[in-house]
This record gives sequence, structure tokens and C-alpha cells, in this order.
Amino acid sequence: MSQAIEIIPGDGCDEPPCLETGNPRFGDLVTRRLKRRDVLVGGLASALVALFVRPSGGRAGNRLDFKPVPVSRADCVAVPEGYRVQVLLPWGEPILGRMPAFTINNSGEDQAMQIGSHHDGMHFFAIDGSSDDGLLVVNHEYVEPRLMQASASGLRLGVDDAYLIDGRRPADDVLKEMNAHGVSVVRIHREADGGWAAVADPRNRRITALTPMELAGPARGSDFVKTKYSPDGTSVRGTLSNCASGATPWNTYLAAEENWALYFRNDDSKDGKPDQPREHSQYRVPRGKTRYHWELADNGDDAFVRFDASRKAPSPTEDYRNEPNAFGWMVEIDPFQPDAVPVKRTALGRFAHEGVVFAPPTEGRPLVCYSGDDAKFQFIYKFVSAQPYSKANAGGHLLNDGTLYAARFNDDGTGDWLALAIGQNGLTSKNGFCSQAEVLVNTRAAAKHVGATRMDRPESGAIEPTTGAVYFSLTSNIKRKPDEVDKANPRAENYFGHIVRWTEEGNDHTATRFRWQLFVIGGDQASGRDLTGRPLNENNLFACPDGLWFDADGRLWIQTDISDSFLNKGRYEPFGNNAMLCADPQTGEIRRFLTGPLRQEITGVTTTPDGRTMFVNVQHPGAHTSADEFAHGGPGSHWPAGGSTVPRSATLVITREDGDIVGV
Ligand code: FEO
Ligand code: CA
Ligand code: CA
Repeated sequence: MSQAIEIIPGDGCDEPPCLETGNPRFGDLVTRRLKRRDVLVGGLASALVALFVRPSGGRAGNRLDFKPVPVSRADCVAVPEGYRVQVLLPWGEPILGRMPAFTINNSGEDQAMQIGSHHDGMHFFAIDGSSDDGLLVVNHEYVEPRLMQASASGLRLGVDDAYLIDGRRPADDVLKEMNAHGVSVVRIHREADGGWAAVADPRNRRITALTPMELAGPARGSDFVKTKYSPDGTSVRGTLSNCASGATPWNTYLAAEENWALYFRNDDSKDGKPDQPREHSQYRVPRGKTRYHWELADNGDDAFVRFDASRKAPSPTEDYRNEPNAFGWMVEIDPFQPDAVPVKRTALGRFAHEGVVFAPPTEGRPLVCYSGDDAKFQFIYKFVSAQPYSKANAGGHLLNDGTLYAARFNDDGTGDWLALAIGQNGLTSKNGFCSQAEVLVNTRAAAKHVGATRMDRPESGAIEPTTGAVYFSLTSNIKRKPDEVDKANPRAENYFGHIVRWTEEGNDHTATRFRWQLFVIGGDQASGRDLTGRPLNENNLFACPDGLWFDADGRLWIQTDISDSFLNKGRYEPFGNNAMLCADPQTGEIRRFLTGPLRQEITGVTTTPDGRTMFVNVQHPGAHTSADEFAHGGPGSHWPAGGSTVPRSATLVITREDGDIVGV
């Protein structure tokens, strides 16, 4: 699987063209210089300055030593001077089995041997501690049928349901899409010339929307998850909508299930009105149609029709009314055990899991992890294990028993963790919660019931290694009305998002109280503010923070996800393409580190143990291409191969030309 590497150096010009090589490795790199612009200050943002706390002391040193890259509206990747970037593992790259080469005509079976699409959360699992050799594990959040199926003519791009043919979908198209979801495990190593390549390995693996999985924790075996496939409620086929991820202290991988509800439908009615159980309705399971119409596969296969969760038989074990209840969990995968069955850890709650981040474990103390529910007005959660952590026997069992909490952010800067435990905080049969399984299957309802704070779409969390402070991005919420504003969600019609951080009482992650502050408010020069209340500027203005991650040196990496349908338009025009920035959490300084190609979002970030190689994902280049655009030039991006090629999600490998640590 090893091929020659081609990495293009930057040309250093002010307005460089987009460099596209079209070579098999799709290497590209663009270097840019800054242009000065006036900084505008004013408006609501000035009033928000009082919400920030000036950093107390801290290092005076400059932890960010790279030249920021400017806003980009080009169909390429740009990184700072002195850095190089290689494209690795684009959608369709073969990694196992008979290694089918990528073409748009690949079958569903081929796709099960290839890298999936829409790369998202990711982690580098070093082999024997190496920084040159490891297993890269990558989530594949969703697909774009119009860009991946030979049967879906590009001329129909942008037309809803265009890929339906006479009301049905070709079964192999459905299979291909299901196999492009899930997770990839692939061994990669650094070659003599410094480039990285995938290599054949028995641990290379595709986990898809069809892979058998176990349910574990309180919901396992409950009536909520009994189906025709699993009458005892212990298993399910597949994982869906795997957004961000997290690595456990015992070196396994947790993939989040985020927008899984869209894949199902429930058309049940009673007395002429919709009649969905709350475990469907509160997660917005649609009526009438599903995201990709998999349930309409023309072969009627049981694995496909299950996405119609309408009642079809007398009992739940004869149909798939409960199938959606087996989704919305965190899924544990052991990348070093290719035959291990993935496990959905139900004790961590069921919602639109963005990802998960673990607090550093302490011997003899409970294990703690945090997760956000990415939907408007939803909540931030933490899980505290019942059993103490012990390095000697740490494992997934720690995630099966414990207390799930939802966060309440008080306007005085304090916060409380509210237990979602049956019998506590009003979670009783009188209020509609009869078991811990019912609390967990209906996590959103439970968190709302206990009075958790309704947040502006909680996305990723990250924990500062030096202080233990927890950071969460709140990407946006244009639905928040002026009378719904609170100190932790301080803007009505929050178009640009913000980042909150907190410290647990006594710096103990098991504490039930915390103190919080805003770390940054997204926006342009007029509306964005950093930690000290300074306006954001041309080097760091951003909107819609999504992915967050701390590197080992304590730099905070911030990835943006302005919706592809709004990118470079209207109020989002100043921000250009989605990007990745880097922040010094002590000083609040932020610099733009990377800009991506057209109509994508930047997702997933991890490094080798030595911090000298960073991996970052580019997801959905060319998204939301309209039929008219396609008719006049094709998809709205041709990244990474250029020319007239179909856009492909892929992983970026970022290194410094001098080999030093990325971000220094
Ligand atoms: Fe898949 Fe909330 O980003
Ligand atoms: Ca995300
Ligand atoms: Ca996102």
C-alpha cells in the first residue's frame, strides 16, 4: 500500500493560487502572508466584556509561535509558513480484503474494504509507543449519495430525493452508503522521506452501519431495545452518524452517535394525530421519510427495512419500533482487537452525542468523562463511574455503572451537576421515569426535568492538561430569543457561537459543583471577543466553534463548522472557509492555523505521541452543490485531486519542515 510521497512546498506569495497536484497522494500546501485591516469594535460585544475574567498571571511566554494564515475562500488547504501538509486516506482508499481501487463505480461490497466518507473524530493509537507507526481510527459521520453513486446523476444534485428511482433505492446503493458510514481502523506509518502511508495489517478494519454490536449498561435487555433482530435487547446492527470521538485511558476508542434520528422514520398515528413515543419524538425521529431512504431498498432486506420504526406487527419483537432506541449512544471499539464486538455504553446517556473527553484518571478514584448533546437548547453531561479506576484492570466495565449528570450554569458563575439517577431529583415513576433504563433512553427528558441549563448546541469538550479546566464549544443557536438569554448563553440569535470553560470544585472531576467563565465569543471584529475582552481580529476571527482538543503542551485547537449552506454568504462572509485555530488558554491569544477547501468543515485532530505529526480531517468538501451549480461546472469543490474530480473527505497530515512540534 506504500506509494511515493509528493509534498509541495509553499511559495510564500501573498495571494497564492490553489495548489493541486492530482497525484495519488493528493499532496498540497499553501503558504500565505498576512494583510492588515482596520479593527472595528462596538455593539453588543462591548457589553459582553464584563462576562470575561482577565487571566491571572500565567506565563508571559508565547506558546503560539506560528504565523497565522488569513481567511481563505479558495478550494485548497492553507497552513502557516514552515509547515507542510499531505493528504492521506481519502474516501474510497482501499485498506483491506481484496483492496478494490477507488472509482465512483465501486460497489457496496467494495466500500466495506475502503475508507468511509465524511471523516470526523479521530485518534492515533501508537504501536509500541512509536511516533512513526500506529493505528489511525477515523469516524465517518455521513455520506452524500449525489457525490458517491454512479446512479445519482450530478445533474440532479440539490434536488431532494433525487436518488430515489420509482420510489425505491437500488439495494447496492444502500449497501454502499451504509458501508461508507461507521469507523475505519487503519495502520499508517511514516516513510523514509517523511510522508505517511497506509499499510496492510490484520488490524485494518471497517466498522459500518451493519456491524453487529453489543448493548451494555442499564439499557441492555430493557424493553426499550428489544427488536425483531434482538428479542432480548442485547444487540444491534451498526453505528450511525459518528461525529467526534474520544480515547479511553485503557487505549480504546469511543465513537459518538450524533444525528442518528434522521436515519429513521416513525409514521404511527392515533386518532389522526402523530403518535411517537417520547424516546423518538424528543430526538426528532422524522415522519414520512428518512435521511437516505434506506428503508426503501428494492430488495426489502431486513437490515434495510429496519429504518422504518413504525409499528408493523403485534409485538415489539416482531418489528423495528424500538430500533431507534439502540442508537444515540457512545460506542466502544478496541482497535487492537479486530475481532472484538463494538459495545454501546448506555450508562453514558442517549442523545446527539457530539463526542467524549475523559478527565485524567486517578488511581483509586472514580473515572470521569464529559459529553455534549449537539442540538439547540440541549445539555452538557458528565459521567462518574461507580467503580474506582485502577490502571491494572481498567476497561469498558467502568462505563457500565455510574452516575450521569447534567450541567446547570448559574448566572453568578457557579454551576451544579444534577444527577440523572432514578429516584433522585424528581426522576420517579410519578414523573414518568420508572427505571434507570428509562432515564437513559430518555436522557434529554431527564435533563430537562432536573433543570439543567439549555445550551447553544454543545459540541466538543476538551480538558486543559495543566489545570484540569474543562472547555466546551457551543456552536450557535439562532433560535434563542432575547428573553431566553442567560450568562452562559449570552446572545440572542447566537449566529457565531462561543466557548465556555469551568473548573470543578477542589479541582476534583467528581465534584458536583464548579465555577465557569466564557473563554471566547465567536464573531468578526465587531462581535467576537477573546478571553480578555479584546476584539477578535483578522488573524483569529471565527464562527461556529465545533471540534476542541488540547495537545500535550496545553494548546487548545479550535475547529469551525459554519454550515455549508451558509459558508461565505451574508453574515458569515467574513469568515471564509471553515478553519482550525489554536489558542493559548492562559493568555487567551488565538491564531488561525489552517484553512480548508470549499464547502467543508474541519473535523477531528490527533497527534503522534511526540507531537511532531498532526492529523486533521476535512469533511464534506463540495457539500450543498445545487443542481444549477453542477450544471455549470460540477461539484462546489474538487478537493483534493482538483480538475473535474469528485470531492472526497480525507485526512491531512501536518508536519513542520524543521521537524519540530506542531503549534510551537
Ligand atoms: Fe457532527 Fe455536532 O458536529
Ligand atoms: Ca462536530
Ligand atoms: Ca458539526
